Amino acid sequence: MSRYLLAIDQGTTSSRAIVFDARGTQVAVAQQEFHQYFPRDGWVEHDAVEIWDSTLAVCREALEKAGVQASDLAGIGITNQRETTVVWDRETGEPIHHAIVWQDRRTASLCTKLKSDGHEALVVERTGLLIDPYFSATKVAWLLDNVEGARKRAEAGELAFGTVDTWLLWNLTNGQSHYTDATNASRTALFNIHNQNWDDDLLALFRVPKALLPEVLDCADEYGDTHADWLGAPVKVAGIAGDQHAALIGQACFEPGMAKSTYGTGCFLMLNTGDQALRSENRLLTTMAYRLNGKPCYAIEGSIFVAGAAMQWLRDGLRLITHASESAGHAETVGVDNPVYLVPAFTGLGAPHWDPNARGAILGLTRDTGIAEIVTAGLQSVCYQTKDLVRAIRNDGARLESIRVDGGMAVNDWVMQFLCDILNVTVDRPKVTETTALGAAYLAGLQTGVFESLEQISDMWECERQFRPDMKPALRESLYAGWLDAVERVCNN
Ligand code: G3P
Repeated sequence: MSRYLLAIDQGTTSSRAIVFDARGTQVAVAQQEFHQYFPRDGWVEHDAVEIWDSTLAVCREALEKAGVQASDLAGIGITNQRETTVVWDRETGEPIHHAIVWQDRRTASLCTKLKSDGHEALVVERTGLLIDPYFSATKVAWLLDNVEGARKRAEAGELAFGTVDTWLLWNLTNGQSHYTDATNASRTALFNIHNQNWDDDLLALFRVPKALLPEVLDCADEYGDTHADWLGAPVKVAGIAGDQHAALIGQACFEPGMAKSTYGTGCFLMLNTGDQALRSENRLLTTMAYRLNGKPCYAIEGSIFVAGAAMQWLRDGLRLITHASESAGHAETVGVDNPVYLVPAFTGLGAPHWDPNARGAILGLTRDTGIAEIVTAGLQSVCYQTKDLVRAIRNDGARLESIRVDGGMAVNDWVMQFLCDILNVTVDRPKVTETTALGAAYLAGLQTGVFESLEQISDMWECERQFRPDMKPALRESLYAGWLDAVERVCNN
């Protein structure tokens, strides 16, 4: 029996493919960065064809590095940057426009109008989301209204919409499969998370024709076979989940009350709430944790748009560092008591502020401020933003005593200790921090019989290091008060 699994992790800045064995051990990895387009202030686009080409290339490379043939694979799991919107021609498979990325704010004024017309309550009730340019619905509407002839062609059933999972699946199966999974669907603002169907009222509100939409399947399901030409033989696509949901699965947060925080381009904190879709009173999102065997499991999510991206900006934009790993050295010299605050609201602020028009700022500069203070403030901003989320979760009445962390920044010991100090919760870092890809592999493995159950997956989770709070409450409070003051200065809400 084939015992290897291939996970595709299509993220915001790179496409990755990882081969795992049946113990969930990584065998080989391949990664390719791709172009980011910033055509205007607050606009972010990707070339969907480049996303597909880079994904196929890394799949082939990872298999070659692992010495694994397509016929050795039990299945493929796909995980992806969420909300990013692609619309393509069903006949030719060609996208009608660049993909509009989740960070893109071009529909901010449409969202303001929808809110002022009183539509937010309906969106919150049906989808668990808010009205914000972050989600796919207004991005689809923008494409249909701004690409010549698109709305007519969409209504005639000539076009297809998909988030990145659906776009990749369509290409992998040569147009045979037009599906998404319940987690990705839950980020479009068109999907009713309670009855698990596309919602006709929301389709009408956002003016999205139903003919565009993919069918919604479970996270572990039969998604179709890849075309034999791509990897040398057909392979079953057997799992799909949006990247944050896949990370929750990779972190084995299967019980209500368990939480994970992933530090990638952005930071996304997700708390499993079981079969209850809890509504936040503090502007957090209610979302799918996952759906298995037709059974929805829900989560509360706090979404921060800029985490690792702040480090990327310090490196590539300001050139203050040459590699993200240098940041810890700067932080060691400055220490936690840094008077400089960096608010990385490059594309507005996400939870709990939801201000698409906020822009970034560096505050507290003095004549002796140097590179080290600014870089340290960048690292601290990620932790302060996580604290905003944890406060909102607690204000919603949820208990949160520990979080499991993953993603690129989770390997930085200084950041993890500051995070746990400022949050005043225990931070658990697993042995495998590639939890997003691992989650996708688990889903494909559950569907193909490589893994038997969620219990088996839970038993495989191992802690590499636990960080415990060790900061005086007065210092914690004064540092955080400085952050709240800085945020208030950039927010328009
Ligand atoms: O919601 C956006 C999120 O899915 C992007 O994740 O890992 O690319 O920061 P990431």
